[in-house]
Amino acid sequence: MKKTVFSGMRPTGKLHLGHLVGALEGWVKLQKEYHCLFGIVDWHALMGEYEDSGRIPEYIKEMALDWLACGIDPEQSIVFIQSRVPEHLELFMFLACLTPLGWLERNPTYKEQLREIATRDLQTYAFLGYPVLQAADILLYKAQAVPIGEDQLPHIELTREIGRRFNFFYQADIFPDCEAILTKTPRLLGIDNRKMSKSYHNAINLSDSEHEIRRKVQGMFTDPRRIKLTDPGHPQECNVYNYYQVFAPGQTTREVYEWCSGAKKGCTECKLFLAEKILLHLAPIRAKRAELEAHKEKVEEILQEGAKKAKAIARQTIAEVKDAVFHKKVQALT
Ligand code: TRP
Ligand code: SF4
Repeated sequence: MKKTVFSGMRPTGKLHLGHLVGALEGWVKLQKEYHCLFGIVDWHALMGEYEDSGRIPEYIKEMALDWLACGIDPEQSIVFIQSRVPEHLELFMFLACLTPLGWLERNPTYKEQLREIATRDLQTYAFLGYPVLQAADILLYKAQAVPIGEDQLPHIELTREIGRRFNFFYQADIFPDCEAILTKTPRLLGIDNRKMSKSYHNAINLSDSEHEIRRKVQGMFTDPRRIKLTDPGHPQECNVYNYYQVFAPGQTTREVYEWCSGAKKGCTECKLFLAEKILLHLAPIRAKRAELEAHKEKVEEILQEGAKKAKAIARQTIAEVKDAVFHKKVQALT
């Protein structure tokens, strides 16, 4: 029997190269070996973006296009929108009832976000419970493995603890422990060397035109110590070189190292060439995306089918949960 994988992304903006190499390419590879569910977690998006929620529907559609274009295969995996399977909220409530407040208040991701995100008021009731809904996402399908970024590790730990607490309270064996699958690819920085993020406007998006991609790559920061062509560069400290390692590993990367450290080629040329490598990498994705965009009804069909399949599993889990919480205890008392 294949193990189950669940992962999700919040539809809060366009997907970029960081999402591609940091998450999606990993997901695509997992599809054969695992029974995968991938959720567009729109409730999680709303928790953070409730003040500016109008574009969430558009982001959901874009996300579905991007996922499918990148190779998420609806024949192998279940692709769906979280809010179309209301059992997520139902399980969330069962779990919320037994999650100690202290676990959520101590959650490092929560504390960090309150500190760092100054533009939005995240001091809400729901936002504190963000990881409880995430636990519900994972436990609803009894997923044993969850591909995520390192920043999400505390949420996986909480999921395990909440699942165990449920099993313990109700003397049930419903929820398995889940483990994180961390991506091995190095983190891609934005074109300005800061963390790649839509709010910094420093990301190369999967839906950018060829022209935009070339323009953004040309604007990338390079080794600041390399001013003239004759100055030898320090590729290890250059974001452009880091991109080469991801998009053209092996021979090409070694050549770039030579050009740069040997002061053989300039940064403009180096970036021109990188843009071509990125476009080459994106070519099949862009082609698939264009094809899907011309058949949006197919995408909608895939999402409907996905919700149906997810719901079939979810209903079964909810039935077990209700049985554990209500019936069995009642029987034990009589
Ligand atoms: N919190 C995750 C993130 O921001 C998104 C998410 C929601 C998720 N539910 C999930 C990830 C379940 C993995 C499993 O990246
Ligand atoms: Fe960076 Fe390339 Fe310039 Fe070297 S030559 S500093 S790797 S852009």
